[in-house]
Parts: sequence; structure tokens; C-alpha cells
Amino acid sequence: MQGGFDVLTGDQSCDRMEMLKAFDETKAGVKGLVDSRLLKIPKIFVRPSEELAQELTHENTHKFQVPVIDLSGVVQDADRRRQIVEEMRNASETWGFFQVVNHGIPPSVLDRMIDGVRKFNEQDVEEKKKYYSWDKTRNVRFNSGFDLFTSRTANWKDTLTMSFSGPDPIDPQEMPPPCRDSTMEYSKHVEILGNTLLGLLSEALGLKTDHLKNMECAKGHNFHCHYYPACLEPELAIGAAKHSDAGFFTILLQNQIASGLQVLYRDQWIDINPIPEGLVVNIGDLLQLVSNGKFKSIKHRVIASHVGPRISVACFFSGPVYEAKIY
Ligand code: OGA
Ligand code: NI
Repeated sequence: MQGGFDVLTGDQSCDRMEMLKAFDETKAGVKGLVDSRLLKIPKIFVRPSEELAQELTHENTHKFQVPVIDLSGVVQDADRRRQIVEEMRNASETWGFFQVVNHGIPPSVLDRMIDGVRKFNEQDVEEKKKYYSWDKTRNVRFNSGFDLFTSRTANWKDTLTMSFSGPDPIDPQEMPPPCRDSTMEYSKHVEILGNTLLGLLSEALGLKTDHLKNMECAKGHNFHCHYYPACLEPELAIGAAKHSDAGFFTILLQNQIASGLQVLYRDQWIDINPIPEGLVVNIGDLLQLVSNGKFKSIKHRVIASHVGPRISVACFFSGPVYEAKIY
């Protein structure tokens, strides 16, 4: 393992692929690098200079904020529901992003989920390595992002993926013990919330409440549990590069670290600051497609920070991805 870190932090004469391989072989992720007490970030994590130069021209004003939608009364009160649907329509058409509060998932369930992810990442590295894999057919896998070998810059984060939508149902015993119970519990709740949101989004499109549900848009879900360690040189690195989400929609839980997630709105990066007990919801590419572009799948990213770890759990609702389906 020492060999791997030497290649990464040594005289930097090796090429990028060699460095990526060395990093991959440590199976210890970005947290492993941080724990090895390096003094600067390895080259594979440094963004290209033209990208960094462009960054300086971004003004980060605080003029805009992603809409916050209060879901209380959504089931019992028809007037409230109409109002919520209207807010959701607005947010989905313009931002493609909103936060929800009073969504019905108990705060203790959210806290335990975050805590489980933290414990998984902060346990003995040998335990963690058992889950390190690039095999997409595995319901549970750990690595530093699916695009490590293809992206221009490696992301400053580690990700544990747990799939509740694979061809074979997930067996709780496959999940790492530190986050097994918390994930099973959160999964139950997030599935209910996912269906509630799908009903509201259907209504916001002028359709019957169960329209998107009948299209199986919330059949199965995937968790991507991200751990963004504090970064020595955050201005050079990126937590998660700019992207849009591929599925129908995403529910994102984040811990209370002030800055990280940003959404591209009117050509500016706008921070989505965590609100206590809030969840971020965003429209994915598939929902943009099936809504004929009415709802927007918007680009977002996560910046690196001196403060950390930042922990987030993205729950992707992508429909039945393992079978061909015509929409
Ligand atoms: C994602 C994502 C944001 C975050 O997993 O697609 O955008 O805050 N995550 O980790
Ligand atoms: Ni995303």
C-alpha cells in the first residue's frame, strides 16, 4: 500500500493512468489519502488550469435560493395540496430543484442514516476494502466514483452504492454492518416519500395522481452515499464534477456542512445550503424527457471544502433499469 501512496505523492513523474491505478489499488479511497497525511493533493485531483481560470469569473451572488416547499397538510387538506402542487410545478419548471420540509421522515431516521455512512467510512480501512469493487452487478459496492478512470479530474469523495433496484433483491446481510439497519429503515421511508412526490409531480404535469407511479418511475431505488473528506487545497479540487442525474428524480439527504452542493441557475452557481431536517429533491434526465422538457434536469456539482467531512445520501429513482421499457 505504501507503494501506491508513493506513486501518488512522489516526484509526480508518472503518467495519469499510472497514478489512477495506484490510487485504485490502495482501495482506501480519498479518505485513505487524507489519513496518509499528504501535504498537497495528488495531481489526479487537480482541475485543469483553464477550468480553474473560468471559475474566477463566476460571481457567486446570494440573490437566488432554491425554493423550499413545506409538505405539511399534503394528504389531509385539498387546498394545501393544490398550493403545494403549484409550488412544485414552478420549481420543477425553473430550477429543477427544490427542498422539502415536513416530509414525514422522522429526524432520527435521517440522523441515523448519516451516522451510518460516517461510521462505514471511518471504520478500519481493512473492513472497508472488502466492499471495494467496480462490478456494477453487485448490489453493494464502494469506490471513489464510477467515473474515476474516465473523468478529467478525479472527484474528492468516496461513494458507497447500495442498490434496491437490481435484478436480485438486496439481502440486508450484503450491506456493511455500520449502516445496515439505518439504510433498511431509511429505505422504507424514502420509498413512501418518493411515491408521494411522484403523485404531486404527476398532478403538477396536469395528470392523474398515479400516472407516473403507473409508469413505474419509482420502482426500485439506488443509494449513493457520499463521503467528502475535508480537503487541503479545495480551490484546486472538485467534490463532484458538474453533471445532471440520469433517472426520473433524486431525493438527497445532506449533513449540516455549510457549503458543498451547488446548482447552475441563470449561468451562476447557487449554493444549496442544508436546512435542518430538509431534503433536496431534483428532477433527472428521464423525467425531463417524459415531460417533453416541461420539467428541467439541471446541472449541479459539489465543491471541495476545508471543512468536512461532508456526507450526503443521494437516492435515485430510475425506474426498472434492468429491463427495456418504452415510455
Ligand atoms: C449525485 C449528487 C450531490 C451531493 O450523487 O448525483 O449530485 O450533495 N450528489 O452529494
Ligand atoms: Ni447529482
